[in-house]
Amino acid sequence: MDKNTSNRGQWASNIGFILAAAGSAVGLGNIWKFPYLAGANGGGAFVVIYLVMIVIIGFVIMLGEMAIGRNTHLSSVGAYKKLSEKWAFVGFIGVVVGFCILAFYSVIGGWVLNYIGKYLIGGISGAEAGNYFSGFIASTTQPIVWHLVFMVLCCVIVLKGIAGGIEKASKFMMPALFILLVIIAIRSVTLDGAMEGIKFFLKPDFSKVTIGTVMAALGQAFFSLSLGMGAIITYGSYLGKTENLEKNAIIIPAIDTAVALLAGFAVLPAVFAFGFEPGAGPSLMFITLPSVFDSMPFGQFFGILFFILVLFAALTSAISLLEVVVAFVIDTFKIERKKTTIIISTILFFIGIPCSLANGPVMKDVLIFGYNFFDFMSFLAENLLMPLGGLLMCIFIGYVWGVDNISDEISCNGKYRFRSKPFFVIMIKYIAPVLIFIIWLNAIGVLPYIFKIFGITL
Ligand code: TRP
Repeated sequence: MDKNTSNRGQWASNIGFILAAAGSAVGLGNIWKFPYLAGANGGGAFVVIYLVMIVIIGFVIMLGEMAIGRNTHLSSVGAYKKLSEKWAFVGFIGVVVGFCILAFYSVIGGWVLNYIGKYLIGGISGAEAGNYFSGFIASTTQPIVWHLVFMVLCCVIVLKGIAGGIEKASKFMMPALFILLVIIAIRSVTLDGAMEGIKFFLKPDFSKVTIGTVMAALGQAFFSLSLGMGAIITYGSYLGKTENLEKNAIIIPAIDTAVALLAGFAVLPAVFAFGFEPGAGPSLMFITLPSVFDSMPFGQFFGILFFILVLFAALTSAISLLEVVVAFVIDTFKIERKKTTIIISTILFFIGIPCSLANGPVMKDVLIFGYNFFDFMSFLAENLLMPLGGLLMCIFIGYVWGVDNISDEISCNGKYRFRSKPFFVIMIKYIAPVLIFIIWLNAIGVLPYIFKIFGITL
């Protein structure tokens, strides 16, 4: 252990790192968003494009972030700063993104906690599911109380540090999550009438693909792999100098993708089997699924299992977001971890309050650029800042830090053969930045105008 790592903490084992990083990646993005995005974007066609994005963009950016973190043994801001003073702002974008995402992520985590409670005391009737959900999220105090509980859980894990907190929690929650998901996926695909859903999920219908589908797939790849904001830089900074980064950058996206696909099998066949619509959007998990559970034998039991699994997924992701901010403060101001974690969690709790209230009468008319506070935070983080962070990172690695330096880090100065180097170099210097830039232009609403100039109609 060198001087830098000794007082910052380190993973106890590489498998611990893999589970923690996979825990960051596997989250609401996989279990809540992926099935509804597939449901709303033509099923199999979306899945295929998503897989391509994971391979060509996900792998490369994940490897890049891991290498930056491990090379510097610093969290995002410090890492960029150490490699090139002027680029520290990219790390800072990450800290801002962490704040924005965690504020609304924790509110959703609170909804999940409430659903677990609700299922434990009897469940939600199918006929009532829609009203129940809209009534609950619009109420003033209840969702805030659950958001507080979720934030406290994150805080307790993160203040225990890297090996003793995050790694330990991930080592328990990740395997448990996987087992629960397999049980539910098996239940779902063996229901009468599940075949329709399986077909929908697997059979690509490319006539449904638009540029919007590609955008959605790339955005989802970023979000699902926790890329573009320094989460993997931060986790990578606690890695020892001898681990094989290239291998890790294959395993983690593979786990993330496997869980997303399994979640698709857990959700979509059941939705079809009971005659519901797959394209319900965000409410798929909170309204459609409770109706599905209500129609199913032992639905309450499966409801409990399902929402516990979602809670584990959400928690392991939320702690990575919190850790980005906490590590930044620890590295920069040298404040002790416990104190830092409690202060940051408290601030985050308060930022989450307007996110929660934005769904109800108190703040639903407070709009920022036409978005309510909840949607604004998500738009700002996911659509604007994360792709920007990813884009700047590609440019930084490709043209500032340089591909030779990063290759040395990835190969541990020649200890491992960096097999995918030619692919990595082409991707990080040319393909990924161009693709991300296009997506970004689309996200900020400029792309349609550019298309118009070239006479392309969508
Ligand atoms: N990847 C998580 C999910 O799929 C969300 C998440 C956690 C995240 N940490 C992140 C997204 C960092 C972007 C950046 O739900």
